[in-house]
Amino acid sequence: MTVFPEGFLWGAATAAYQVEGAAVEDGRCESIWDVFCRMPGRVVNGDNGTVATNHYHLLDVDLALMSELNLNAYRFSVSWPRVVDDDGGVNRKGLDFYERLVDGLLDRGIRPFLTLYHWDLPQRLEHQGGWAQRDTALHFADYAQVVHEALGDRVDDWTTLNEPYCASLLGYAAGVHAPGRREPRAAAAAVHHLLLAHGLARKVIDKRVGISLNLYAVDPVNPDDPVDIDAAWRVDGLQNRLFLDPVLLGKYPSDVLGDLAPLGFADHIRDGDLALIGAPLDWLGVNYYTRHRVTGHAGGRTPEWIGAEHLHNVPSGLPTTAMGWEELPDGLFRTLNRLHTEYPRLPIHITENGAAYDDAPDAAGFVEDRDRQRYFEQHLHCVEAAITAGVDVRGYFAWSLLDNFEWAEGYAKRFGIAHVDFGTFARTPKLSGRWYARVAGANALPE
Ligand code: NOJ
Repeated sequence: MTVFPEGFLWGAATAAYQVEGAAVEDGRCESIWDVFCRMPGRVVNGDNGTVATNHYHLLDVDLALMSELNLNAYRFSVSWPRVVDDDGGVNRKGLDFYERLVDGLLDRGIRPFLTLYHWDLPQRLEHQGGWAQRDTALHFADYAQVVHEALGDRVDDWTTLNEPYCASLLGYAAGVHAPGRREPRAAAAAVHHLLLAHGLARKVIDKRVGISLNLYAVDPVNPDDPVDIDAAWRVDGLQNRLFLDPVLLGKYPSDVLGDLAPLGFADHIRDGDLALIGAPLDWLGVNYYTRHRVTGHAGGRTPEWIGAEHLHNVPSGLPTTAMGWEELPDGLFRTLNRLHTEYPRLPIHITENGAAYDDAPDAAGFVEDRDRQRYFEQHLHCVEAAITAGVDVRGYFAWSLLDNFEWAEGYAKRFGIAHVDFGTFARTPKLSGRWYARVAGANALPE
């Protein structure tokens, strides 16, 4: 048996737009994802999150599912346009939903991890320029205050932002996420304003606060080739250090500042911003899925370089998930060790890890997802190895509790440890879910 430390958190994660549905109920306003989904050709099959998994109406079913899976933690996000209306007022009905969720979790002994921003910016703020505008960060602080007032007495663990890399660079430069803009200069501004929003919200919340970053192992294709080494370092810069350094060290990495200079990045930084952004955190959230294997020979530099295009990923021949992402559990081990040695020794929660595979239920409706079970098992062995090596990992959240709306991939990609039938909304734990429940119950991996 591979035993985890006492009190280790076994969680699962979701995000509001991906699971809730009820997009026009109880006063919820429009978000950038509602609008993006209506743009032809942006989301596979023209899917959207209007109904999603119907979690908003199936809250009790999902709470029971979490208990059945032996979870002792649950990570969810609050939908900003559900709790603040288009006049900037508080929407009590929207907040009620999260109160019921949090109370239900606490009743079951499940620790709530609340994420304030998982990408569903109110559309009214995008009309005013979105994250390219500094004011959006100030509005975010007001929104954080609203949620904190409602739930601060019951929620001890808060995440300001989920994956600001995606919210800025994929949304404003690559255009593959909402709001779908292809404006590298706006993306550069969005990076800083999202981080500023993190810093401002951090001040508002007097609980344990973290941020969830999508971190990758990054390797040069040819470790002896200076061109590949340089490309890997630059990708590491945009993907990892651009977010880690300001948040954990209170400064932007100078090489990345250089790469972003043609986009006017530094023009957005004002006195005092980095002190706010770098204020001490209580924990770091790591979202890990894969690594980037990079070459510099395919060309491409800033400004075209910013966004998804800069990743000249070269397949290594390792197995990949249905997302086409290489499976490299050891990349998680290396990432955790790197954080431990290069940054202040913060407690870490793995706030996301998981995989999409092409699941097909059998005649009885059961998904025997051995590939996903193996993915979790291999990555959890790496988490345990990192803990044994001295890294302070306190919790692990499987992505995801449910099959759900996978952003630009729509419903075609399934990440759930429970299968969702999108006709009936029935939830059925998959083989991986049953396995995870045993692991969580035993606080250990079977040999
Ligand atoms: C990261 C995001 O936070 C989540 O919303 C997404 O579904 C998963 N990764 C899988 O792509």
